Amino acid sequence: MVKICCIGAGYVGGPTMAVIALKCPSIEVAVVDISISRIAAWNSDQLPIYEPGLDDVVKSCRGKNLFFSTDVEKHVFEADIVFVSVNTPTKTQGLGAGKAADLTYWESAARMIADVSKSDKIVVEKSTVPVKTAEAIEKILTHNSKGIKFQILSNPEFLAEGTAIRDLFNPDRVLIGGRETPEGLKAVETLKSVYAQWVPEEQILTTNLWSAELSKLAANAFLAQRISSVNAMSALCEATGANVQQVSFAVGTDSRIGPKFLNASVGFGGSCFQKDILNLVYICECNGLPEVAEYWKQVIKINDYQKSRFVNRVVASMFNTVSNKKIAILGFAFKKDTGDTRETPAIDVCQGLLGDKANLSIFDPQVTEDQIQRDLSMNKFDWDHPIHLQPTSPTTVKKVSVVWDAYEATKDAHGICILTEWDEFKNLDYQRIYENMQKPAFVFDGRNIVDAEKLREIGFIVYSIGKPLDAWLKDMPAVA
Ligand code: NAI
Repeated sequence: MVKICCIGAGYVGGPTMAVIALKCPSIEVAVVDISISRIAAWNSDQLPIYEPGLDDVVKSCRGKNLFFSTDVEKHVFEADIVFVSVNTPTKTQGLGAGKAADLTYWESAARMIADVSKSDKIVVEKSTVPVKTAEAIEKILTHNSKGIKFQILSNPEFLAEGTAIRDLFNPDRVLIGGRETPEGLKAVETLKSVYAQWVPEEQILTTNLWSAELSKLAANAFLAQRISSVNAMSALCEATGANVQQVSFAVGTDSRIGPKFLNASVGFGGSCFQKDILNLVYICECNGLPEVAEYWKQVIKINDYQKSRFVNRVVASMFNTVSNKKIAILGFAFKKDTGDTRETPAIDVCQGLLGDKANLSIFDPQVTEDQIQRDLSMNKFDWDHPIHLQPTSPTTVKKVSVVWDAYEATKDAHGICILTEWDEFKNLDYQRIYENMQKPAFVFDGRNIVDAEKLREIGFIVYSIGKPLDAWLKDMPAVA
């Protein structure tokens, strides 16, 4: 029986391996992690991540050909194929701080693989890594190999959180990069035969190592760029009276452009976009391409602009101060159908409002109070380290309360900020909410999900990103 081991039981390692186990009953899959609590959760009824459909997949294979364990060395020793899906945070100190990828966790995983291996192995980069990481990993493995042969493959993951299981069942493509040597090509074929058990062959793309590594960074940069492009347009729409939804629909019907990823919002978040673009920027700078670096940097600058623009709108509309006013925050996750808060725009918006001394009452159907408090008190980029290396008891932000109901969050509030597009926020009883709020009552829709006209009829003053402004808002320009 072929044995696969995946180092890193996170948002990528857990779901991808569960789907491989489901689709390949003849392969034994072990997912290992240094975090004891994470592995315990994978072995319990309360999985460590929320992802539609994941529970069913895990339940049908766990204990049969899918195992979660902290015995990293044993499973690496036994495996024929070792996936590495560990954190690759942005460096916070030293050379490349604030941009370059920190490969500490990757390097320690590679050294461990070299240490414990007694048979030839295929080592697969699943984490998103800088171009040429495979070369560094190869060096670590071969210099410590004691005669064992390793083949390095790059197999970046393209799943999107919230639709991870659907994406893994029906990926647009699977990408496998390897060395163009007979051994490299053989390793590519071996991994290809795993995916071929459920993915049509023509959708399994094979390339050289560097193309596969760079394609992942490029894909994320292109996706984030679409969001920043439409968000940049949203500011112009507000200034001119155009409606960004009409503009993006008209633009997206051009088949060369396409309709996806053109929703204006308070900004993109998630663990990957910013981190991967910063990494891309750094690689461009290191390769003497400052113009290319500047071009991609702008995607992040517009995202930051969009978040601060939103905060300015809130504060300016409410007579230029939110000091001691209760503001309800509906949604904290970076998008709907996930409990993931990494780099969520809600962090920056909340911090902006706290900077103006607001009292925040936050509700998200999938995010815990502990997580929200952590996120609001953590230093930039600290989130992307294994959980047991993060501060254990973060300081509580006093002006923040976390509640388990949208009606509780909005009671006596002066304003509501909708920061995640959860479906349930579309169908709240806004009449009831209005009656229980301070007047004038404001709704700032950072995701364009509510029917602004209906809310205006109830009596709300409504701000929708990129839509023609209420007379009230026109009179209160949000200048930083
Ligand atoms: P995560 O933080 O959820 O999981 C990483 C896991 O690796 C943690 O549980 C950590 O404890 C473990 N770990 C770190 N060092 C280890 C070691 N030496 N031995 C054993 N376990 C170790 O991260 P996530 O989101 O799964 O991301 C992993 C990689 O995949 C990153 O490079 C990310 O950029 C990339 N990626 C993430 C996507 C996403 O949607 N989250 C999508 C595609 C790629």
